[in-house]
Amino acid sequence: MDLKDAIYSRRATRAFTADAVDEKTLRALIDAAIQAPSAVNAQPWAFCVIRDKTLLAKISQQAKAYMVRNTPLGLVSHHFDQILRDAEFDILYRAPALIVICTTAAIPWAVEDCALAAENLMLAACAVGFGTCWIGFAQGWLGTAEGKAALGLPEAYLPIAPIVVGRPKAPMPAVPRKEAEIRWIGS
Ligand SMILES: Cc1cc2nc3c(=O)[nH]c(=O)nc-3n(C[C@H](O)[C@H](O)[C@H](O)COP(=O)(O)O)c2cc1C
Repeated sequence: MDLKDAIYSRRATRAFTADAVDEKTLRALIDAAIQAPSAVNAQPWAFCVIRDKTLLAKISQQAKAYMVRNTPLGLVSHHFDQILRDAEFDILYRAPALIVICTTAAIPWAVEDCALAAENLMLAACAVGFGTCWIGFAQGWLGTAEGKAALGLPEAYLPIAPIVVGRPKAPMPAVPRKEAEIRWIGS
């Protein structure tokens, strides 16, 4: 798959087969991620790969409870509030693997650097037939002392991009894009 196909066909994947993601694939995705640019080439990222089902279930439960406790009323839609309170809803969509991209230092642009690494990773996964979804819902709890301890992260690290990875159960429909707002200045 060429780059343009990956850019245009990548979709947030929310249903996965039970197939495990092998280590070689995960390493290749992380290798693509670290080709991203980073400010002053600091490369302030680390990757935590979780395939342990018990821990994945714990992350989902804790992250949902954290969101319910900490999201100000009105900021989350009724639909999101309902699913976050649903004991059956797995915010990680029963994906076989979760890669959490973390900043390793509180330096300028570290968050942007990790976001760029995340997009590389998601495009690279798409190019080899894997689905991904950035799970913003998981970020809050993973960034707590308890969440970091669950991942064995050093205190200075901060989870930025929790990304589930797996084989898509079915092709995901495209989500329409708004027209780009472009302000031309000069010609
Ligand atoms: C920062 C960020 C956080 C996101 N958090 C979630 C999430 O918690 N759960 C989810 O199902 N999708 C999440 N998504 C996926 C978006 O909903 C999805 O990318 C968007 O609807 C566009 O669809 P597409 O990725 O298929 O183009 C997140 C995406 C980004 C970039």
